[in-house]
Amino acid sequence: MRSSFVALSRTLRSTNMAGSILPCSLASVSFPSTSSVSAVPEITDEETLKNLRTAAAALRNNELVAFPTETVYGLGGNALAGSSAIKKIYTTKGRPSDNPLIVHISSTSQLNSLVDPALKATLPISYPILMDKFWPGPLTLLFPTLPGELVSENVTCGLRTVAVRMPAHPVARALIALADLPIAAPSANTSGRPSPTTAKHVERDLNGKPDLTCILDGGNCDVGLESTVVSALGQKSSVKGKEKEVLQVLRLGGVSPEELQTCLVRAGLAEEVELQVATHPPSHTSTNGEDSRSDKSHVNGNGIIPSTPGMKYKHYSPDAKVILVRITSDATDPQLSKALSSFSHSKIGLLHLESTGLHAAVQAISKEVIPISLGSPRDFVSHAQRLFSGLRALDEADVDVILVECMEEEELGRTVMERLRKSAGNVEPVDVRI
Ligand code: TXA
Ligand code: MG
Repeated sequence: MRSSFVALSRTLRSTNMAGSILPCSLASVSFPSTSSVSAVPEITDEETLKNLRTAAAALRNNELVAFPTETVYGLGGNALAGSSAIKKIYTTKGRPSDNPLIVHISSTSQLNSLVDPALKATLPISYPILMDKFWPGPLTLLFPTLPGELVSENVTCGLRTVAVRMPAHPVARALIALADLPIAAPSANTSGRPSPTTAKHVERDLNGKPDLTCILDGGNCDVGLESTVVSALGQKSSVKGKEKEVLQVLRLGGVSPEELQTCLVRAGLAEEVELQVATHPPSHTSTNGEDSRSDKSHVNGNGIIPSTPGMKYKHYSPDAKVILVRITSDATDPQLSKALSSFSHSKIGLLHLESTGLHAAVQAISKEVIPISLGSPRDFVSHAQRLFSGLRALDEADVDVILVECMEEEELGRTVMERLRKSAGNVEPVDVRI
């Protein structure tokens, strides 16, 4: 097995495939239905099998591979202690060096190798329930680990926790299983840009990067937003003398707080576990966080962190300026034309909800509008799927400004609005009446 990987790695180097897109057929990859403990994929399409083997060999050779997940595309590298791949991930993305990475696994047996053995018996009571319900899927959980012994120190950035998720995308899971390695992977975009939801998005950002061996193309990502990051490793809460485990949502994502709460209630844990959604400091305006190791505000006494380092950076920004527009009957200054007065001669990109009237209203005022629908007003799943690809498509269309219609802040709509606020540089929406 090992020698065939070495042989494949040599072939890779000699054919110089840097950054090329390798297609994978999702339908040809399957896992036995009860296989989360040690998953072995079945791959029926020969080209897909060949491409997955090529990518797996590259990962074992400490090279980088971009791959699809159900949330967004990831930029993967070997996560284990001693790996030389992780530094390449930071350089390739231009990622601040204090922002730790999520480790992706294909089976629960891989999880065992990442968790500090001394603390395995004391893991939070909510974890087995959450993993059972949401894995494989867009939920990331923090575990205690031993950086430098179990995972690369560069994955955790000096923290004693590791963020782990089991992706549901068959190509991602098959790749990890074939490489037989836990794979560290941030979103495969240049830091600060909207996350990629197609292989072309990855190519647009990372093409020509010397450490990127290939991009596996598994089509459009289903969820379109990154995973939800949670931790129950922090302090407990005490209500009327009764201690409760606190499950903190550190980053909103593809699993909504409502879904987490429903899962806890159904498992009979509502009295034992309190769900909290963390609030975050505003983003830095720069993506250059090279010196931000001095910001230790996220480290508490036992080295377990109550928030997510990545939340403080500039995120999800297309090239064009983003302005959020909220239709509300409470608007004090209801004039859309006034809000758009400085853009009347601009090429306007519009991400709008269907049948709310904003599209028609903007078209009536502006000379050139490029509209993209996010879906009907309460179709939050569609908003999530179309958000990043919409922002990227409008950048490609070279618009001067992007107007985005706000949706209700419920379920996935809350995550989409959180991402949108960041895209808009944390400037609050303009309220208009139509
Ligand atoms: O869906 C996703 O999560 C995608 C796909 C590729 O899996 N990945 C992704 O990774 O969004 P990235 O690097 O863009 O975001 C990871 C987030 C960051 O906010 C980071 O600070 C946080 O997870 N994180 C990672 N390890 C952590 C840790 N040990 N403690 C707290 N936060 C952590
Ligand atoms: Mg990211």
